[in-house]
Amino acid sequence: MPPVEAYCVTPSQRTAQITYAVRDVLLVAEETKKNGKEMLYLNIGDPNIFDFDIPPHLIAVAHEAMLAHKNGYAPSQGVPQALDAIRREAQRKGIRNVQDVFTAYGASEAIELCLTALADPGDSILLPSPGYPLYSALNSKLNIESRFYRMDEQKNWQPDVEDIAAKLDARSKAIVIINPNNPTGALYGREVLEKILELARKKKIVVFSDEIYDKILFDGNKHVATASLADDIPIVTFGGLSKCYLAPGWRVGWAVISGPQKATKDYVAAIQKMTRSRLSINHPIQYAIPAALDGDQSHIEAMNRKLQARRDITTKYLNQIPGISCVKPLGAFYAFPKIAVAMPDKIFVENLIRDTGVVVVHGSGFGELAGAGHFRLVFLPGEAVLQKAYQLIEGFMKKQPTN
Ligand SMILES: Cc1ncc(COP(=O)(O)O)c(C=O)c1O
Repeated sequence: MPPVEAYCVTPSQRTAQITYAVRDVLLVAEETKKNGKEMLYLNIGDPNIFDFDIPPHLIAVAHEAMLAHKNGYAPSQGVPQALDAIRREAQRKGIRNVQDVFTAYGASEAIELCLTALADPGDSILLPSPGYPLYSALNSKLNIESRFYRMDEQKNWQPDVEDIAAKLDARSKAIVIINPNNPTGALYGREVLEKILELARKKKIVVFSDEIYDKILFDGNKHVATASLADDIPIVTFGGLSKCYLAPGWRVGWAVISGPQKATKDYVAAIQKMTRSRLSINHPIQYAIPAALDGDQSHIEAMNRKLQARRDITTKYLNQIPGISCVKPLGAFYAFPKIAVAMPDKIFVENLIRDTGVVVVHGSGFGELAGAGHFRLVFLPGEAVLQKAYQLIEGFMKKQPTN
């Protein structure tokens, strides 16, 4: 037998490029907590950690399904009751020409399956910058090129359509839209969506529309589903129970593929192959999908009211702090303040965590260029916690050398 020391498992190169800033900051936070600091967590977008609870009727339905022996494998695409409910929801969102729907382990897995079935190594996918880092992590895993387009802070973080046009080339397979947006909280207007669709139409490429936060909206704003604006373009709309239905730990998401039947049929067949290869997602919990989408929606209004008040405290307080400016989020539960300090944002955040116990995520974790000089915070915690966190940030900012 060779000596144990001789073994050294070399990890794959593709993992070297993968970073996930949202979880990475936890290492510094854990070390700070061990040193006895009181911690204020404004870093993870999980409503369940705070005062937002899953609507009880969803638990009742899932429990009933377990008792009714729905504990074997489910069909690979999802149980018919769930798929029908997702189709009805698509119809309510104004999406016509639906060619297929499937359930997945969170929107995350739906995105992974749809990327895997779409692009080959060397192809490129256009991603918003700043943007949710899952997409670039998946691209690294699949050897797909991530091409980042600019989000314009001066225009309330709307996508820069000219930059998208400039980044498209012959290897581009899809444009990703995240609306409402993580990490900026931006809500996109109809006009900008139509312009992006026009680019996709011209280049004959797919649009991925991540609408996981579509019901978390403030100030009476309405969400426009990208696919409701075009029947002639292949569009994949992602949704799930994690955010609007407050059940991130259930890992239930879905995708709706719409567009012309002829243009999408091979792609749909490839996605179906992918879903078959992993058998099925959690079976009993899928019965909660119709209960969520078709049932009582009163928790949404209550959640939005609470979040809007927390959003207001956030932007009001942060914009009063010298060296910080913050665009008002119109949806989701994130803000992406800009910091005028003479150090990289990652160092700023690490120092902030060690000095104050306030945990936020460095902006460059959401895109090296556009995100640098920012941090992302989650305004899910209660008002007292937010006030305290912003007071600590204010005190910390006073000690910083500014640009
Ligand atoms: C924009 C966006 N898309 C997808 C996801 C993942 O959702 P799920 O929990 O359904 O996998 C998140 C989670 O934070 C997100 O912010």
